[in-house]
Amino acid sequence: MHIVMETDRMMLRRFTVADVDIIVELDGDPAVMRFLTGGQPTPRSEVESEILPRILRTYEETPNLGRWAALAKSSGQFLGWFALSPTQRGNADDEVELGYRLRRSSWGQGYATEGSRALIHKAFTELGIERIFAETMAVNTPSRRVMERSGLRFVRVFQLAWDDPIEGTEHGEVEYELRRADWQPAV
Ligand SMILES: CC(C)(COP(=O)(O)OP(=O)(O)OC[C@H]1O[C@@H](n2cnc3c(N)ncnc32)[C@H](O)[C@@H]1OP(=O)(O)O)[C@@H](O)C(=O)NCCC(=O)NCCS
Repeated sequence: MHIVMETDRMMLRRFTVADVDIIVELDGDPAVMRFLTGGQPTPRSEVESEILPRILRTYEETPNLGRWAALAKSSGQFLGWFALSPTQRGNADDEVELGYRLRRSSWGQGYATEGSRALIHKAFTELGIERIFAETMAVNTPSRRVMERSGLRFVRVFQLAWDDPIEGTEHGEVEYELRRADWQPAV
């Protein structure tokens, strides 16, 4: 098992080819997918042929970054995932995007904030990152709260062009950020 990081209550490890089922289950919950696809589950075939291969490819391309499975230390149970993704804007290698997706049974317990804060600490202290940003739909209040509790600050609302818009896209997307110079580790 390739362990990436531990927090008080969680262990983050790399995904493997054996993880199709847990991703299918996570993305199969309409509540989890509400602000991502409008509630549509991700087909198993897409997890097998696109999503998981892409996750594994990122480990090769950027070994310090990627999407990692979060397990409860106490039970070993899969809680969801966290990500520090390479930015797709230009070639900035000192900037990463923070992301997270938890199983519904893991909500309301502070896991998302605990994992986000730990990844922010890692990014700024070990990975040479200068700026962390996160984006979500403006109407995704739980995700915005995680960003705020983790110390990120609101930057902007922006509009994306969607072929098949889901409910709430009319309110746009939001971007939050935290720069290393502004980071307060204790927050
Ligand atoms: C976004 C998401 C991870 C947020 O989950 P969450 O459970 O609200 O966030 P946290 O894990 O930080 O938990 C915070 C909540 O737990 C409560 N809590 C309970 N025990 C806690 C503890 N020990 N420490 C901290 N908070 C605790 C907090 O009071 C807070 O509740 P509140 O929001 O009602 O005030 C979750 O809604 C999700 O996975 N959504 C689907 C995927 C998604 O939308 N991802 C983002 C797309 S960009």
